[in-house]
This record gives sequence, C-alpha cells and structure tokens, in this order.
Amino acid sequence: MNVLIIGGGVIALSVARELKKRGIKRVTILEKGALGREASFAAAGMLAPNAESNGTGRFYEFCAASNRLFPALADELLEETGVNIELDLTGTLFVGATDEDEAEIDERYSVQKNAGINVARLTGREVRELEKNVSGDIRKGLLYPDDGQVENRKLVAALRSSAELNNIIIRENKCVERLIIEDGVITGAVSREEVFYADRVIVATGAWAELIPTDGKWAAFSLRPVRGQMIGFEAGDFSFSHVIYSPRGYIVPRADRHVIAGATMEDAGFKAEVTPEGIDLVKKAACEIAPVLRTAIMNESWAGLRPFVSDGLPVIGEFPGYKNAFIATGHFRNGILLSPITGKVLADLVLTGKTEIDITAFRLERFSAATAGQN
Ligand code: GLY
Repeated sequence: MNVLIIGGGVIALSVARELKKRGIKRVTILEKGALGREASFAAAGMLAPNAESNGTGRFYEFCAASNRLFPALADELLEETGVNIELDLTGTLFVGATDEDEAEIDERYSVQKNAGINVARLTGREVRELEKNVSGDIRKGLLYPDDGQVENRKLVAALRSSAELNNIIIRENKCVERLIIEDGVITGAVSREEVFYADRVIVATGAWAELIPTDGKWAAFSLRPVRGQMIGFEAGDFSFSHVIYSPRGYIVPRADRHVIAGATMEDAGFKAEVTPEGIDLVKKAACEIAPVLRTAIMNESWAGLRPFVSDGLPVIGEFPGYKNAFIATGHFRNGILLSPITGKVLADLVLTGKTEIDITAFRLERFSAATAGQN
C-alpha cells in the first residue's frame, strides 16, 4: 500500500511512523515548509491532560490514554534513533494567587477527584516546599503527578530520524494545492510542480484548512489558527522541577535548566509573530508564578499557530463522503500530547477501517446537521 500524508508536524510524523511499524511499504510526507517547524516547534511540550483540561469526558480520556503511551515511545525512540526526547514525569503544578484562582482550583479539585483523577490539593506553603522559587503570593495549588513534559523539538528530531531510518519519504517545501478526487475517491494530491498518487491520503495540515473538502456540508465546522507567543529564559541561579501553571500562563523547566514560558491565545490569522504586548503578558504571568524570573535573562521569543476547531475538539477519522481519505487535525493545545494516540488511530483506520479507540466525538461527521448536538 502507498500512503500519502500531507503535513509535516508531530501528528503527520507519528502517523507515518505507526504506518511503517505496521508494515506499510511506501509512506510519503509532503510538508509545505520544513518538517516540524510550525506548531510542533513552537509548542512547550507539556503532557498535561489533567492540568490543561478540566474536563473528565471522552476528550480527557483520549488525552490521558495518549499520555500513557509516552514512556514506551521515549524508550523506543531512544533505542531507534539515539535521540532522548527528555520525557519528564515529575508532575505538574497548577497554582493560584487570587480569589478567582482559588475558586477555580477548588472547582477543579472537586470535579477531578470525583472522577478518580490523580490530583492532590496543596496549600501555598506545600507548593513552596515542592518548588522553593514559587511566589509567596501563591495561596494554593494542585499537584498532578501523572502529567509531565517532553522536549518537543527533540521529539520532532527523533521522529524525523526514525522516519529517515525507516525509509519514509520526506518531501519538504512541497505545498499541496489540491487533492485529486475521482468519482468520490481521493487518489492523490497535486503540488505546483508534481502530482502524487496514493492508495490512501491523510490530511494532517494543522491550522491550514484549505484541503479539507467540506463541500459546504458542515456549516458549523471551522478550523482557524490561535496564536501562542512564548519566551525562553537562560538557565540561571534558580531551578524548578515541575511544569507550573497558573490560570494566566505557565513555566516549563527544561533538562538543561533553561525555562520557557507561555502563552498567549490570540486570533491573529496566520501571523506567527511575536508582539511587545504578547511578550509582556507572558513574562508577567511567568514572574507572577516565580518572581525570580524578573531578573533572569530572556534570550528567546517565538510564536506558533494552534489548530483550533470550532468546538475545541480535534478532527480525526475518515473524510465522510470520500473513499481512501482521512483527516487528523484540530489538536489545539494538545498536539504534542495527542501525537502518539493519533498515530495509532490513523494506522488502525488505514489498515483495518476501524479502531478500538473511541473517536466518536472527534469525527468530522459531528458537524453534520443530522448528528449535531449528539456528542
Ligand atoms: N499546550 C500549551 C499551549 O497551548 O500553550
């Protein structure tokens, strides 16, 4: 079988890897720019089903299931490629400094504890016993021992190396202009210079929605970029061991002790650029968590575009109405976290036409008039 994957972020790379592992002979990735240089590169690498969602339903279960795949994935990638993706399972803290924050923490705790989620409630003092550089203004917090992080740029490097070692064909700077559709079957894709035919076609183009043939059928479906601005601080005379969130931002300590902080949530079209206002907001939120960062050297800033679907959930599954075509996008704030499970689901669908993982809530069909409101 010959599979074409359009898009070159961690979702596309994870799907490609899983397909190759399961014996697909020819897998080709078409990326419009450089592999993994959009949202996958801009991300913070947090594996935070608990801290980054306060839900407990199907989406939460999907995130938590993907989170559980990382220890094996990290081992496999290290063995296969020699790249350490720096999986860190120390846990995540969610902290609050205001009355509203305290109310949010109490609400999260009660919902999550009731749902059987592994979460502990901490006083401000207990937070500072875990993280001595957290502000004295922090009044309470939650500890999520099952959340963690990976170094997302190393994840991209490892997946790329795995692709190269496994003869996945990578075509960068290959901008696909349209899909080839013959009698309701998607048979390939056309770039400016080349035509690619395939037995199966997967669209995993992040925030770029042009190739998704909705035919006006799913009026409620829309996909747009939500910009996140981020900053990095040089390693200094401080250290942190957990990813630390507040309702206004987060800090992520890396293995080499430099710290990154994020992130804005902005509608700025396809402008993956930083602004002075955005950087100020992110820095303020980081310093509110850890005032020691006020004097740290900020040595990096960047922005990325999260793919956001109108109901906040990813779109994963077959293209309804077309044969041999699949979609995997809309991972929004959880692209890194959801990459391994998305790879497995797509490989299941391509190879067997079904998957045991429950993706009912993520199928594009949820936007059809007949099923709207059922999920
Ligand atoms: N997952 C982090 C962010 O979207 O900012």
